[in-house]
Amino acid sequence: MNPFIYQSCCSGDSFCYRTEELKQINKMITQRENIFIYSKRKFGKTSLIKEFFHKSIDKNRYFTFYFDLFGVTNFVDFIKNVYKHIALNLPEDYHLRLKHLKELFIRVNFTAVIKDNGDLEFNPILNSYNLDELFADIYRGLEKLSLQSGKKIVIAFDEFQQISCLKEVKGDILLRKYIDKYPDIRYIFTGLKRHLLSDIFSKKNSPFYNISGKLELKPIPKDKLFIYVDKRFKHKLSFELFERIYDNTEGELKLIQEVCYHLYYITCLKNNDILNSEVVDYVCSSLLESKSEYFKLLINQLTMPQKIALKAVVISNGTELYTKDNLFKLQVTKSSLNTAIRHLYKDEIIDKETNKYYISNKCFELWCKKEFI
Ligand SMILES: Nc1ncnc2c1ncn2[C@@H]1O[C@H](COP(=O)(O)OP(=O)(O)OP(=O)(O)O)[C@@H](O)[C@H]1O
Ligand SMILES: [Mg+2]
Repeated sequence: MNPFIYQSCCSGDSFCYRTEELKQINKMITQRENIFIYSKRKFGKTSLIKEFFHKSIDKNRYFTFYFDLFGVTNFVDFIKNVYKHIALNLPEDYHLRLKHLKELFIRVNFTAVIKDNGDLEFNPILNSYNLDELFADIYRGLEKLSLQSGKKIVIAFDEFQQISCLKEVKGDILLRKYIDKYPDIRYIFTGLKRHLLSDIFSKKNSPFYNISGKLELKPIPKDKLFIYVDKRFKHKLSFELFERIYDNTEGELKLIQEVCYHLYYITCLKNNDILNSEVVDYVCSSLLESKSEYFKLLINQLTMPQKIALKAVVISNGTELYTKDNLFKLQVTKSSLNTAIRHLYKDEIIDKETNKYYISNKCFELWCKKEFI
């Protein structure tokens, strides 16, 4: 089996390093602090939480719940998601679990459904659409659960910034109200660095102002990641070639895993030959090629000034976008470029770090470099 995983988050045997981060999260949780984990895209935030919940946290002391807010579009959706995950994570088998759920919550009924893959799913049917009542029900239920089990509750909200898109019914204020009302529950939030600076956490009038400590997830150091990769390749990828991949991707874990996944496949086909630079280059360019149609589609969804702005970021390597030379080369005015850059930033197509813009999706950035330069 291919030991590299790039399509889903990693935990268990496929999880590399991050010992310090796991220790730090543990420390903060035991010291009753909430924590906001942030990084660039695809650096391993979700994997880190899952690993923490599966392997690091003391399961005799804590009950853990993981909620992904990514696809959530309104607060009722959010509430249903929360109920569903609580149901999924209770320890009993399904008969007892339905009974237990009935004891814990009064604003919802559950039906248990067996999915095509054999997994059990619990679907919540709400009997109230009053958000305050629903939050109260969830928190009362969690408190009961905590008392019954003698364990503290830890909740992870992945992609927490989504909450600020669900403004319409002031659900965020209600959520903060219940977070404050039940101070024994601990929280792990994740997002990008920009979300730390965005209104949710940094504005004094935001319901989530000052709610947590912070942990920046940096790339896994090259030497540590090489040990992980080298073991899986059984020494068939030299450090120099690995370094090339690492430097090109700037340590983005997903892309490194994806390249390694394809390289591993080739070593199997080639009867375990040592990998050389031609093979590595071939895999990297085939990977970009295979995503070409998708990236072209992405570009076609942009307006002309936005396409130009994207090009400006690529050709100027993210800095000094507005030089006369650049504006002339791109045949664009400063204000039009500025507006387009702001749109790309708002839509998270580009991001910014110490005054340098970059394309958030590393693979897309490499593809654009190939196309535009
Ligand atoms: N500790 C790790 N060891 C090995 N690979 C990892 C690790 N963490 C993440 N990865 C790789 O990176 C990919 C992305 O990880 P993950 O989804 O956890 O990142 P993320 O920061 O949550 O991404 P996003 O910004 O999209 O939310 C995984 O599919 C896996 O290939
Ligand atoms: Mg994630």
